[in-house]
Amino acid sequence: MDPVVTTAPPPSLEVTGLAYAYPDGHQALFGVDLSIARGERVALLGPNGAGKTTLVLHLNGILTAGAGSVTVAGLPVGKRHMAEIRRKVGIVFQDPDDQLFMPTVREDVAFGPAAAGVRGPELEARVLKALGQVGMAAYVDRPPHHLSFGQRRRVAVATVLAMEPEILVLDEPSSNLDPASRRELADILRSLDVTVLMVTHDLPYALELCPRALILSEGVIAADGPTAELLSDADLMSSHRLELPFGFDPKSVREKS
Ligand SMILES: Nc1ncnc2c1ncn2[C@@H]1O[C@H](COP(=O)(O)OP(=O)(O)OP(=O)(O)O)[C@@H](O)[C@H]1O
Ligand SMILES: [Mg+2]
Repeated sequence: MDPVVTTAPPPSLEVTGLAYAYPDGHQALFGVDLSIARGERVALLGPNGAGKTTLVLHLNGILTAGAGSVTVAGLPVGKRHMAEIRRKVGIVFQDPDDQLFMPTVREDVAFGPAAAGVRGPELEARVLKALGQVGMAAYVDRPPHHLSFGQRRRVAVATVLAMEPEILVLDEPSSNLDPASRRELADILRSLDVTVLMVTHDLPYALELCPRALILSEGVIAADGPTAELLSDADLMSSHRLELPFGFDPKSVREKS
């Protein structure tokens, strides 16, 4: 049981002064500061090579900060709390095949919770709930490699949901999805009661799903504000190599909550 909380919960994610250079000396992050409150859905935008994936890899300790800090629900990301951090931060990678490696969908979705000690009927219930959330419960006994790309993406989301994460981080979730699957994934993400950080080049998708957006450019946060405002700022957009689809008017879309 959680202790009785009398103050506001800590932010789901707090990044302070995060800088990182790859071992070959290439510096990708130059002091990133951001804070995401519990329950927010935030888009992380930025051109190719801006450092988005590098930032994501710091959120659950796959990479560790050269300088600065990352905390998840008040817990510092670092060796001491790694198992708990991995449970709290659910990352859905761009390529579902990086995430699915077991003979059946059931085993893939059960893998994380089982490693965290969940067993028996509780484990099966977690698996079926997570697959139900992404509309894939009927596929529980299928081998993941027999599924279509869009189906594998949904199962990858389920593997993360089964961990009941504090924050769901998605790297390019709409890429390679057909329009119906793209919309269905948006419906799924909106229905979840979880903090979401979504890396995307799909600006209409960001606008539809995320009330707030961050622009990461050359390894720093260059803008942070309401998604519709950022996308409507033509100078800001062009100075960070961001382009809306032809004819798309960000003011014509109202995000649904
Ligand atoms: N393993 C690595 N070693 C050295 N440099 C790297 C490595 N991975 C990425 N980089 C460099 O770090 C910078 C940031 O890369 P990153 O993959 O984080 O960008 P991104 O914003 O995710 O881009 P994209 O939109 O193309 O996915 C780039 O200049 C890239 O070349
Ligand atoms: Mg990337």
